[in-house]
Amino acid sequence: MHTATEHLPESRHHTTKLDVERIRADFPILGIRPRGKPLIYLDSAATSQKPRQVIDALRRYYEEENGNIHRGVHYLSELATMRYDETREAVKRFINASSTDEVVFTRNTTEAINLVAASYGQAFVRAGDEIIVSLMEHHSNIVPWQLMAERTGAVIRAVPVTEIGELDLDAFASLLGPRTKLVAVTWVSNSLGTVNPVKQIVSLAHARGVPVLLDGAQAAPHIPIDVQSIGCDFLAFSGHKMLGPTGVGVLYARGDWFDRLPPYQGGGDMIETVTIERTTYAKAPSKFEAGTPDIGSVVAFRAAIEYLEHVGLDAIHDHELMLLNEATARVSSLPGVRLIGTAPGKAGVLSFTMDGVHPHDIATILDQQGIAIRAGHHCTQPLMARFGCGATARASFYLYNTLDEVSALVSGLEKVREVFG
Ligand SMILES: Cc1ncc(COP(=O)(O)O)c(C=O)c1O
Repeated sequence: MHTATEHLPESRHHTTKLDVERIRADFPILGIRPRGKPLIYLDSAATSQKPRQVIDALRRYYEEENGNIHRGVHYLSELATMRYDETREAVKRFINASSTDEVVFTRNTTEAINLVAASYGQAFVRAGDEIIVSLMEHHSNIVPWQLMAERTGAVIRAVPVTEIGELDLDAFASLLGPRTKLVAVTWVSNSLGTVNPVKQIVSLAHARGVPVLLDGAQAAPHIPIDVQSIGCDFLAFSGHKMLGPTGVGVLYARGDWFDRLPPYQGGGDMIETVTIERTTYAKAPSKFEAGTPDIGSVVAFRAAIEYLEHVGLDAIHDHELMLLNEATARVSSLPGVRLIGTAPGKAGVLSFTMDGVHPHDIATILDQQGIAIRAGHHCTQPLMARFGCGATARASFYLYNTLDEVSALVSGLEKVREVFG
């Protein structure tokens, strides 16, 4: 049997710092030369690059293991089912869920949140009930609740964000009321880098009997997660932001939540018996995995989880912090730069604007130097409105980035300044 941990970089047990050169060697794409320049990839918050171990697992799946899951007794069907379930085990371990029945595979974070909004909304939300989100949410943690509110007559309330980019927790506590049916907030902001005090948020909400969904899209790649310690009811995240393939996301639901929610989609694999008149449903997780999933991506996702575990999220976090501190100090001292999001304890995201230069122009000039950053509203328009800017430029860091790349970013921004005067 192949294991995804073959040829992994040196583990955290042998080194106190990341061996970044060794890690970089695992990422074939880092060797490309866009526009003739070495690639400097500072857009991991949008999607991370993939190590060879994940690419190999995907290729191996299609070359040696491909079959449909749960449907056959033949060798390949059994093998694919086993591989698929191994990833569920890996996810359970990665987030410290108490059972694999608490882990449902979706396409991404967006689909996981839509699932909760649709099913929870149908079962528990009535006209006049309230859902609390925050002003720093990604659109994928706003729009599904709006769709649900249109169907149910619920009302959406948003926790304000302070000048440095923190959630206003006093305001949050005062928004929690007798009509509050759910709190849905992000763990880490993709636009600001703010790491929210999720344990405190959960305990404030639970004290009022209100369940909490955490958007973990930017947390799972960077922060060790223990759902039992945090106590959240739901957690959503995406494989593609944490070294995994696109097409696979996770919805964790604590305890018996999946038993209490109606199915999201109907179809094959989610049933127990079907007659023309009625259907009885399978137990979770199958109940929420209708149809053939992206089996290959789920299987390869295990290699991503094992890679992160092997390197160690604490070591990754320390490395990102070192890059962020350097970038923050140097970029903020450039003339006309305004940082958006300066909360203490931030994750590796640097959002900024430059006087007189549109963020898209910043990104375009950097791109000519092989530097990939993101410019725009980052799917957080309410947050951009809060900070009075329609868009920011955003550099985001991950385990394969280096201090030299931070220097290249700074030189690139100096060039932007020269061009725009
Ligand atoms: C905080 C946050 N939530 C949700 C999403 C949506 O993730 P996906 O597009 O993988 O569903 C993103 C993606 O950028 C994000 O950063």
